[in-house]
Amino acid sequence: MGKIMLTGDRPTGKLHVGHYVGSLKRRVELQNKGDFDDMFVMIADAQALTDNADNPEKVRQNIIEVALDYLACGLNPEKVTLFIQSQIPELCELSFYYMNLVTVSRLQRNPTVKSEIQMRNFEASIPVGFFTYPISQAADITAFKATTVPVGEDQLPMLEQTKEIVRKFNSVYGDTLIEPDILLPENQACLRLPGIDGKAKMSKSLGNCIYLSEEPDEIQKKVFSMFTDPTHIKVSDPGKLEGNTVFTYLDAFCRPEYFAEFLPEYANLQELKDHYTRGGLGDMKVKRFLNHVLQAELEPIRNRRKEYQKDIPYVYEILKKGSEKAEAKAAQTLSEVKAAMKINYFEDAELIQSQTKRFSE
Ligand code: TRP
Repeated sequence: MGKIMLTGDRPTGKLHVGHYVGSLKRRVELQNKGDFDDMFVMIADAQALTDNADNPEKVRQNIIEVALDYLACGLNPEKVTLFIQSQIPELCELSFYYMNLVTVSRLQRNPTVKSEIQMRNFEASIPVGFFTYPISQAADITAFKATTVPVGEDQLPMLEQTKEIVRKFNSVYGDTLIEPDILLPENQACLRLPGIDGKAKMSKSLGNCIYLSEEPDEIQKKVFSMFTDPTHIKVSDPGKLEGNTVFTYLDAFCRPEYFAEFLPEYANLQELKDHYTRGGLGDMKVKRFLNHVLQAELEPIRNRRKEYQKDIPYVYEILKKGSEKAEAKAAQTLSEVKAAMKINYFEDAELIQSQTKRFSE
């Protein structure tokens, strides 16, 4: 059996540096290592609509933004199938059958869905589609027989739920579906990159994101305004690293060679941290260094994005071709699923024969 990667993002906004260190960077590395037999990256517009049903234009506009961000990060459409979820009707069909294998109380216990319901003030009026999106996500993953799903930590409950559906399906209908493994970032700082205000999660509505397509002066402005250690007032004060966003970002983004390039007085990140905690190192100096680091990381991404922006019809063509390829694969899985569930009536000669016999006796 092959190694297959599948992952995706909801097109509700441009992608930011949290998406990058949390998953995008990993996808590009996996692509370049080349040990997957097939790789799929999905723009999850149908899932985005589960809590944006009244705002289809937002989802439509952001499809191209997310596609550009993918290509900008270095996903290569020759190696990775980029596609749009809603264009694969087989995913809806699979979801419908999986719904029979999941209880309402199990969905209610999904911690990510729980906290999203709270965040959106949905308590009294949860759309059914939103409530059941973990089931549709199981369809996304299993339709491609994915073995590996690189995502952020918040997606762990979805993967758990997918595995349960796979086990249940296989035990009731016979071995058909593949249990996927989640692939989380190894670096602790990348697991959940905070916003520039130090808040737990980067989000568009909080206005605390640095986007992948951000211009250099904006990046600098955001870095200079970052949350640090509020008790570190004078340069001579000892500083704290926990909860200090600037250092969390350095943990996530800094490469050893950046010291020689931008801050040669220090040999490595540990020396910089030691000086900060000892006292005598000002926030501004660390922020200037982080600015250099982020500028170096984001410049090639921004430039690649600008190249693709010059040929938008080509980007849509990539998505169209990808969606065709993805649909062929999902259709294959769906036909296996229907055969296992005994809902294939017309291509089953044995069924017709046995029914013929039954009624002639
Ligand atoms: N839930 C994911 C997100 O919010 C998007 C997504 C939809 C996804 N289907 C998926 C991720 C399948 C991985 C696998 O970003």
